[in-house]
Amino acid sequence: MNKTASDPLHLRTQMDSNFSFRADTDFVIDEPNPINKAVSQEDWYNQILSIVVVGASGDLAKKKTYPALLNLYEEHLLPREFVVYGYARSAKTHEELRRHLFPYLLKTGTSEHIVTSFLEKCFYYSGKTYGDESAYTSMVANLATFEYEKRSVNSVANRLFYLAVPPNVFGPSGVVIKKVGMSESGWTRVVVEKPFGRDLDSCNELLKSLSDDFNEDHIYRIDHYLGKEVVQNLMLFRFGNPMWEKIWNRDTIESVTISFKEPFGTEGRGGYFDQFGVIRDVLQNHLLQVLTLFAMEPPESDDADAVRDAKVEVLKNMDVITLEDCLLGQYDGYSDDPTIENKETNCPTYAAMRCWIHTPRWEGVPFILQAGKALDEKLVDVKARFRSPTTTLKSVQSFSKKLEPSELVLRLQPNPALELHNNIKTPGLSFSPMRGKMTMNYDDIPNVSNPDAYTRLLLSVMRGDQGSFVRDDELRRSWEIFTPLLHSIDDTGVRPQPYKQKSKGPDDLAEWMELMSKPGAAQSLQSSL
Ligand SMILES: NC(=O)c1ccc[n+]([C@@H]2O[C@H](COP(=O)([O-])OP(=O)(O)OC[C@H]3O[C@@H](n4cnc5c(N)ncnc54)[C@H](OP(=O)(O)O)[C@@H]3O)[C@@H](O)[C@H]2O)c1
Repeated sequence: MNKTASDPLHLRTQMDSNFSFRADTDFVIDEPNPINKAVSQEDWYNQILSIVVVGASGDLAKKKTYPALLNLYEEHLLPREFVVYGYARSAKTHEELRRHLFPYLLKTGTSEHIVTSFLEKCFYYSGKTYGDESAYTSMVANLATFEYEKRSVNSVANRLFYLAVPPNVFGPSGVVIKKVGMSESGWTRVVVEKPFGRDLDSCNELLKSLSDDFNEDHIYRIDHYLGKEVVQNLMLFRFGNPMWEKIWNRDTIESVTISFKEPFGTEGRGGYFDQFGVIRDVLQNHLLQVLTLFAMEPPESDDADAVRDAKVEVLKNMDVITLEDCLLGQYDGYSDDPTIENKETNCPTYAAMRCWIHTPRWEGVPFILQAGKALDEKLVDVKARFRSPTTTLKSVQSFSKKLEPSELVLRLQPNPALELHNNIKTPGLSFSPMRGKMTMNYDDIPNVSNPDAYTRLLLSVMRGDQGSFVRDDELRRSWEIFTPLLHSIDDTGVRPQPYKQKSKGPDDLAEWMELMSKPGAAQSLQSSL
């Protein structure tokens, strides 16, 4: 079938084992790089930018932060005049840092020529501690010299500090940045990595450690799930296609399941993981963030605070999670990891939990969050299961095969895609039903790049767009919801159910899912509305 001008988003339908939708991208992508053009017209793009990666010697810096900066550099999305300083305690020369980063930057697929040119703009400073005022003063003096040399009439110099360090040094880093690192002519923004605490009290302490020196406008708390393509698509998908918004509610949707499955265990990082467990590592932050974007009411505007207000409203209307809402598991052999000291650890490596959202839109609709390590596959997705067919038509009803509810699937990884699973008639003479899958695979859309979440989020920081970052009240409420559960696991020593590696999870999972996915179960009827 040919596209027509009057049908710009015409979808080509192709029949194979499934029905497959493919976007006709001639119309969707009208310019090769519209983002570059838009960004180059923004003020900050023509201003001077100094970036400081605090914790530059670490794992995150080499695997995520510098590669994301390189990506932006390659795409011409960093200002013309920029410099990147790395700061940490390890002694290194500028050259040693460059050599340390080089293989990780090459792994991104960027040409050696561009990597080398990017590294020429990267420097390194070390200090005794993360609050070392004299080391910071000397590094900032160099930044200031760079900014002075590149200045032009009315020029503005902005500063971005990326804290790629453990949370115990956020406080001292914040104090010294505030004291000697603030830009005098432009903005200063501080990017903070998770974990933002272990429970509500520690979260409050962390929030305080930075709020003494900065207000919320300065702080960008990264949850990299908010930078994933399918998550960033949620707003446009929901509110740009009115048909979805009409059925995005309890009348049509029976349950929502958000899953994170990893096919490997802790792989020698058990010592770190055992301090947190899968609930703190994945559910309280990544999956809850996806839930709030899925479930929120339409924000009043697309202003960052309006979006975050809408997300916070979801959290305020959620019940606190208790042990009774959960199924916990631990894979066999978890504590054999030599880095785990407590061989009797009850740390969950799998957790599924049911949440209720007491709003008119979602009352009685179970939201199931599940995350696990060492499972049968690698998968992150959101499944909205629609209500079962209620037709009395004999032609639909009378087949021996039960009709399954339709499902909308938003797959974050692997192979990001949007899928709609429906009942269709088996093609041919048969009238028996079969499952038909309409799929929009992101990988099938030509001429678009799908940058890493960190690349997107760092661009948002530079543009001052806080909508994809976690605000303080959002963070506090998410810990309020999870802290009682986390404390009961820690305090009661409850044993998670063992499960086999490469399995779907604990043995009770199928039964638990069936029970917990039932809409409007008794507990939900104590609505707070
Ligand atoms: N790695 C990831 O993929 C990832 C993903 C999400 C979030 N995060 C978070 O991002 C932050 C950095 O992660 P990372 O994996 O890069 O951590 P890391 O390698 O353990 O630490 C980064 C740097 O911080 C310094 N450091 C480490 N432990 C310290 C301590 N106890 N006190 C003071 N300084 C210390 C070390 O530099 P010097 O010794 O040279 O000072 C280290 O090179 C952490 O908060 C982590 O939870 C990491």
